[in-house]
Amino acid sequence: MKKIIDFIEEELGVAFEKAGYDRELAKVTLSNRPDLCEYQCNGAMAGAKAYHKAPFMIADDVIANLTEKEYIGEIEAVKPGFINMKLEKEAVSAYLNRMREAGDLGVEKAKEPEMIVVDYGGPNVAKPLHVGHLRSAIIGESVKRIARKAGHKVLGDIHLGDWGYQMGLIITELRKREPSLPYFNEDFAGEYPKEAPFTISELEEIYPTASAKAKEDETYREEALHATYLLQNGHRGYTAVWKHIMEISVTDLKKNYDNLNVEFDLWKGESDAQSDIPDMIERLKAEGFAHMDQGALVIDVQEESDTKEIPPCMVQKSDGASLYGTTDLATLVQRQRDYQPDQVIYLADKRQELHFVQVFRAAKKSGIVPEHTGLSFLGFGTMNGKDGKPFKTREGGIMRLENLIADIEEEMYKKITDNRTVEEGDAAATAKIVGLAAIKYGDLSNQASKDYVFDVDRFTSFEGNTGPYILYTIVRIKSILNKYTADGEGLSCLKVIAAGSDGEKALMLEALKYNEVMAAAYEELAPHKICAYIYDLANAFNRFYHETKILSEEDAERKKSYIALLVLVKEILESCIDVLGFEAPERM
Ligand code: ARG
Repeated sequence: MKKIIDFIEEELGVAFEKAGYDRELAKVTLSNRPDLCEYQCNGAMAGAKAYHKAPFMIADDVIANLTEKEYIGEIEAVKPGFINMKLEKEAVSAYLNRMREAGDLGVEKAKEPEMIVVDYGGPNVAKPLHVGHLRSAIIGESVKRIARKAGHKVLGDIHLGDWGYQMGLIITELRKREPSLPYFNEDFAGEYPKEAPFTISELEEIYPTASAKAKEDETYREEALHATYLLQNGHRGYTAVWKHIMEISVTDLKKNYDNLNVEFDLWKGESDAQSDIPDMIERLKAEGFAHMDQGALVIDVQEESDTKEIPPCMVQKSDGASLYGTTDLATLVQRQRDYQPDQVIYLADKRQELHFVQVFRAAKKSGIVPEHTGLSFLGFGTMNGKDGKPFKTREGGIMRLENLIADIEEEMYKKITDNRTVEEGDAAATAKIVGLAAIKYGDLSNQASKDYVFDVDRFTSFEGNTGPYILYTIVRIKSILNKYTADGEGLSCLKVIAAGSDGEKALMLEALKYNEVMAAAYEELAPHKICAYIYDLANAFNRFYHETKILSEEDAERKKSYIALLVLVKEILESCIDVLGFEAPERM
């Protein structure tokens, strides 16, 4: 559906043209002074120089020539030359009715849908998921859903860190503990056991133990590095251990991501890229893109316009080992072969930015991806504790994701049972739903690149700019609608009519911004814009709710219009939180 702002611009554009000015000057924005008007145009000021006229005169001319006025209601020129506008009430309600009838509330779909891969999550197998991976999962999931909403074909790829040194560490520790296992018998030629020789909790203990030992003990470290090397070169027994580690970890990861309402289409990882590395390196060398520099194979990526030095992208170490960049390049080789993506969007800590600049440039320069492929990096900031330092447990250790979620759920459970609006049996399930919203909204409402403070008390509050507040608003609407239908009334065939009060109009004006916000969120890959929007929408609704007797309204047509508006607002809020990756309970 065409955005409301486009209708306004069109009407105003005709007036600019009639008055003898360039139509392009009719740029309309939301008002900076909502106390004075709803929308504004600063085009008269922008055109003053070109037309050698005072802006105020231009504004006056334009208003005098405004003949088509379906959308624009009150309009006035304000010194020095602003054009202030309010929307025609009838046009607003008509637009809302069209939104209700249009599929997906009138969100504009891409005319030429793109193939987009979103690379997010990026957990490192066998290391427990910690809060650092939370942001990647939450923001990535939302970006994926935003792009889908805009009509694109989107694949989410978890890109597991499943091929590194941590695997060598686990193998080494396991060999020390259980040397008699067949994986460590070089002469063993039979079939390895189907069952893994460890459980997930054992695995989670083995890794940190091994990692600590390797830090203290040089020989242990050497052994682990060698085990990594052997694994990466196809050692039969180690490959079997690796498969066990993968199976056990992936099952556990799936459970964790499931709890977060995060869903990947592809469960590929760094290990999947290995088979493409040798050919890729051969080609890079043969075609002269890569050259030796101090023993390592590198691709130069410095560009003339750079104001600072961008070091070359390393593709092979002197000992022949591949690096983080190598894997990312080979993964692009695969993605190009399998999906020919128009865009690949990567989520990772913003401190990895340089890595991605190097990889993107190397991939473009060497033709691994075509010039027109969009490669973008969405770097996120750190999640801090109240002390402003990276989030830790109360004891100062690394916070495991599971525990963090459990803490929030517990807090939510307390609040919900205190309120006693939810039956005991439902309270735990509700706490889970609301707790997840608290975490996700707390994260997504900040611009991704910024650090933020993870504040359990604030995030779980039912008031203010929080997930629970948004859900509470939805639940409130649901409850009004339930009462309405309980009286035997249906929800279909209702029509929104022109607003009868300021509060009602304000709510309508928020509702009609929906498709504009979705478009902006996609353009800028900015879930926080959706959060800011639903906060405004929820506030507008709550103001309307406190000012208006909805169910006891006597004018039948007006009452039906209120209900129609509520249905729409509820659908908008639900659609937005779905894109953010959480949902609302029935009661709370
Ligand atoms: N596993 C990496 C980490 O924990 C993140 C992976 C990001 N994605 C990528 N294609 N490099 O830091």
